[in-house]
Amino acid sequence: MCVPEIRGNEWDYVKECLDSNWVSSVGAFVDRFEGAVANYVGTKHAVATVSGTAALHIALLVAGVQPNDEVLVPTLSFIAPANAIRYVGAWPVFIDAEPIHWQMDPVKVQGFLENECRSQGGSLINRTTGRRVKAILPVHILGHPCNMDPILEVADRYELITIEDATESLGAQYKKRMVGNLGQIACFSFNGNKLITTGGGGMIVTDNQAWAERARYLTTQAKDDPIEYFHSEIGYNYRLTNIQAAMGVAQMEQIENFIKRKTKIARIYEEAFRGIEAITLMPTRTCTTPVHWLYTVLLDEVSTLEDRKDFVRTLNDQGIGARPLWHTLHDLPPYADSQAFQIENGIRLYERGISLPSSVGLSEQDQQQCINIVLASLRR
Ligand SMILES: Cc1ncc(COP(=O)(O)O)c(C=O)c1O
Repeated sequence: MCVPEIRGNEWDYVKECLDSNWVSSVGAFVDRFEGAVANYVGTKHAVATVSGTAALHIALLVAGVQPNDEVLVPTLSFIAPANAIRYVGAWPVFIDAEPIHWQMDPVKVQGFLENECRSQGGSLINRTTGRRVKAILPVHILGHPCNMDPILEVADRYELITIEDATESLGAQYKKRMVGNLGQIACFSFNGNKLITTGGGGMIVTDNQAWAERARYLTTQAKDDPIEYFHSEIGYNYRLTNIQAAMGVAQMEQIENFIKRKTKIARIYEEAFRGIEAITLMPTRTCTTPVHWLYTVLLDEVSTLEDRKDFVRTLNDQGIGARPLWHTLHDLPPYADSQAFQIENGIRLYERGISLPSSVGLSEQDQQQCINIVLASLRR
């Protein structure tokens, strides 16, 4: 669905690492990659990590999320942000998706904070659980930004930290500002299927120097001294290697072309499916410029989960790498004890959503074949 595109300086830069022996977690390419991402997103700092999940884990720690705190997170998302919340001993509170734009619903974020919580001693307390609500973790899914202004407004009102999971949306813009530069701290992923890839990898970005320094410290085993093995805290081995960063630098050089290709792929799908009653097209919010990471459509309103499963199977049987949207998180076994607030839309989106091949290198001929098979399968 999203095959890596390795046609730039990746081989040369990786060779430079191998030739110079700078293969591990320090090196010029790590610095260059951090600089390139910070510069692109417009934040003062960037800290490279082994994965997007590790980035989320550390972002929550440096933002001061404590065991037994609560963090609002969308139920319609890949599972990593919810897991990262549990890694720090905090609890997710699952928020529904918007019916039209599929992202975390700001109206429900506000509804939860206003109606389900009370202020006490300078903190916001969830009336049901008695726990402190500490942060909001919006996830910009599928290459499209969340509606951030109302989320940031309510976060500000209740003094909550906003941690963006921008792993799927590097390069997307909300009101002409890059995602990752909207909250106080944000995370990206460079997993193999992402817009740019380092094989595996992630990045924390922030304007907060103290947080960036602490993220660097925690990701390097909380090493206090460059020579003596003195550690005053428990740290993590979460740094990206120079080899991976070399690939990242080469990928960043091509990001604008990658976005252009993804946008073209989305246009072609849109034109092919416009007017087809059985398909709801992927929406774009007017004040945003998405990067169309993964083009996704919905089957019609009356289709069931079984219809959608059949449809994905039919496409897969014909060699089309289609996938469903993620199972909603609030009703997965690890989250049975977590609170879910007024979830209605997320489940239906999961039941109806299908992501289609969206690789940067997808040829127009292959895309047309994919469209033909989708249309023929709809008529079955
Ligand atoms: C929304 C979201 N958050 C976090 C991650 C985790 O990133 P990684 O796979 O690099 O750990 C991913 C994807 O992989 C994701 O899609």
